[in-house]
Amino acid sequence: MTEKIVAVTGGAQGIGRGIAYAFAEAGYAVSIADTVRDAGDEALTHIQKLGGRALYDHVDVSRPDDVQRWIARTVDELGCPSVLVNNAGINANAPFLDLKVEDFDHVQAVNVRGTFLCSQAVAREMIKRHQGGAIVNIASTRAFMSEADTEAYSASKGAIVALTHGMAISLGGTGIRVNSISPGWIETSDWQFSGRAKAPHHSDADKSQHPVGRVGVPDDIARACLFLADDAGFVTGQNIIIDGGMSVKMIYV
Ligand SMILES: NC(=O)c1ccc[n+]([C@@H]2O[C@H](COP(=O)([O-])OP(=O)(O)OC[C@H]3O[C@@H](n4cnc5c(N)ncnc54)[C@H](O)[C@@H]3O)[C@@H](O)[C@H]2O)c1
Repeated sequence: MTEKIVAVTGGAQGIGRGIAYAFAEAGYAVSIADTVRDAGDEALTHIQKLGGRALYDHVDVSRPDDVQRWIARTVDELGCPSVLVNNAGINANAPFLDLKVEDFDHVQAVNVRGTFLCSQAVAREMIKRHQGGAIVNIASTRAFMSEADTEAYSASKGAIVALTHGMAISLGGTGIRVNSISPGWIETSDWQFSGRAKAPHHSDADKSQHPVGRVGVPDDIARACLFLADDAGFVTGQNIIIDGGMSVKMIYV
């Protein structure tokens, strides 16, 4: 079987690390972009110990030069990605009336501009080789619902859902499918750099507010990424909510 190649942003820790490991276990070579070097090196070593090919590049996805260098290096060292997972994301929660414009802009730059830059760079390489592929964007249920004081993050995630259907249409006919996943609460405290990882603790209320009876784990998202990459040839422009049913639960207070 020909080795496939996945590029994962924010792949050093959290959900992205779970995605990187799941694709490595499925036989993919993995290219990780992240801003946390110790965690990136640790993820790289783990994948190499599994017998997989991988690279880590120190990349801020909001910076066009970083993204160009990462994708060029990935093509050169591993080959052209058939899958891109735009997972890197940050928030800047603050009382709405105090939210600084530069913090609002920074969240959009990483979450939205980063998704745009990486998708454009990878799509150019895929199209050059007429090979098609899959782009998976990690949005959030917060694209559709909110707690107070989360405007910068929610706006960025709504933009990612819109960017997803936009790119799905623009890239239609190239063989590149573009979809998004909107996770709910995914526990990542035990998926950080080993020196900073913590054992998660969830109360009964944390669990029972989810119809499935538990908080999510990175593998819940990774499985869906693999489905969208490998088994979803008739799916494009869609958003899949993976939240244990939390967002369809009716609440009367
Ligand atoms: N954990 C959740 O409950 C949850 C829910 C919904 C959506 N999400 C989304 O899932 C994605 C991953 O979240 P997570 O909880 O694993 O976060 P995390 O903070 O545990 O991991 C995010 C990773 O992205 C990296 N990163 C941050 N800024 C970057 C940049 N500019 N360039 C490259 N890498 C960068 C971080 O260094 C980190 O390794 C994010 O897009 C987040 O918004 C998470």
